[in-house]
Amino acid sequence: MTSKLTAVPVGSFLVNEFISAEEPSLEPLSSENEIKFSLIVPTYNESKNLAKLVDILTRLLNDYYGDRYELIIVDDDSPDLTWQVGLDLMPSYPNLKIMRRQGEKGLSTAVIRGWQASQGEILGVIDGDLQHPPETLIKMLDAIAAGADLTVASRHVEGGGVSDWGFIRRVLSRGAQMLGLLILPNVIGRVSDPMSGYFMVRRSAIANHAMNPLGYKILIEVLGRGDIGTVAEVGYVFQERQEGESKVTWRQYVDYILHLLRLRSRGRIGRIREKFQVPVQRFLKFGLVGFSGVFVDMAILYLLSDASSLGMGLTTSKIIASEVAVLNNFLWNDLWTFRDFSSKQSGWRKRVKRFVKFNLICLLGIGLNLIILNILYNYFGVNKYLANLIAIAIVTIWNFWFNLKLSWRVTQTKE
Ligand code: GDD
Ligand code: MN
Repeated sequence: MTSKLTAVPVGSFLVNEFISAEEPSLEPLSSENEIKFSLIVPTYNESKNLAKLVDILTRLLNDYYGDRYELIIVDDDSPDLTWQVGLDLMPSYPNLKIMRRQGEKGLSTAVIRGWQASQGEILGVIDGDLQHPPETLIKMLDAIAAGADLTVASRHVEGGGVSDWGFIRRVLSRGAQMLGLLILPNVIGRVSDPMSGYFMVRRSAIANHAMNPLGYKILIEVLGRGDIGTVAEVGYVFQERQEGESKVTWRQYVDYILHLLRLRSRGRIGRIREKFQVPVQRFLKFGLVGFSGVFVDMAILYLLSDASSLGMGLTTSKIIASEVAVLNNFLWNDLWTFRDFSSKQSGWRKRVKRFVKFNLICLLGIGLNLIILNILYNYFGVNKYLANLIAIAIVTIWNFWFNLKLSWRVTQTKE
């Protein structure tokens, strides 16, 4: 799904053709009518927000650019007919274009598709739910005019903030940023608000770079793959949603982590992977599944072994805890990590066979786990739970390797 970002003339895009109230106008604009700025609004079920947003943006941009801009709504075929609402607005807003995308979904790719079909020298994106105050656009455009390659609207610089966020939401947001700093410091560290979906960039900085984003955070793709010199930031306050609903689910958090790793692996790890064919992405999923198993394992170990509950022996408790975690992990791995394989080997008999193999390998793993746990606990005096954690980490690598080679035998690893 790698797509090259070039100045594709409007309409040359098959899947994503613009639709028009009357005749589609697919001609590239003449040079005197050259477009300076293309602003993309990705939408999914934003029918109640669209009219107001289009109106405010049009006023602002008419003042700034006259006629030399375009406002492109990229709608993923919303069930609430957002695209139809856009279509009805077109006669009153000559700079408005609507793209109704079918057969492809997702916030980041919607933005890329919009840019691909756009004509502007400066490319921008703004949420379609009015949570990004439109007035900030002007400051951002000024910063670009002053020479920046990229301007990001940020919650974390002067003048920025969030309106009414609870503790958990703030922690999740900052946690995601910290994780990004750990995995991809050179990219994430360049801006104060890498999670922002409100920014603009010079086309020349990203044209001819392959873009392959995943999930929600298109800015990290632009920073990671573009050729970005100067960066400017403008503070803004993230508004509360008045209409419609957020589309964020746990899935966006997983995608974010996978996206970070994908960007990271384009460098060093990518080359190592090519050389040794290490299935990094798969291991990551396996690791994530293993991580879920840690909680299952820890919880059961506590329930069985802790003096305040059942007070069973450490070894017995650990065996039971591991076995429950093994079942948990098998199901996730079969349905997710190795789905490409298991979907070709469907049927309950085959699944049971895989589970038996997985279980045997994990059983050997449990043996290894026990040995490590006991050595660390009895001989080195390491805390019981920390020792368990270390043992689990080592055994995860063991498990992945043997299961890859035996349980879900993949002859060709495609990503
Ligand atoms: N085309 C399309 N396809 N648009 C989408 C999709 C999709 O699959 N999913 C979401 N959108 C649109 C929404 O309709 C909205 O206009 C915008 O993307 C943001 O989605 P929200 O669900 O409202 O996200 P949020 O309020 O949590 O915003 C967070 O993410 C934004 C985007 O990265 C914040 O981190 C913002 O700062 C950030 O701008
Ligand atoms: Mn929103």
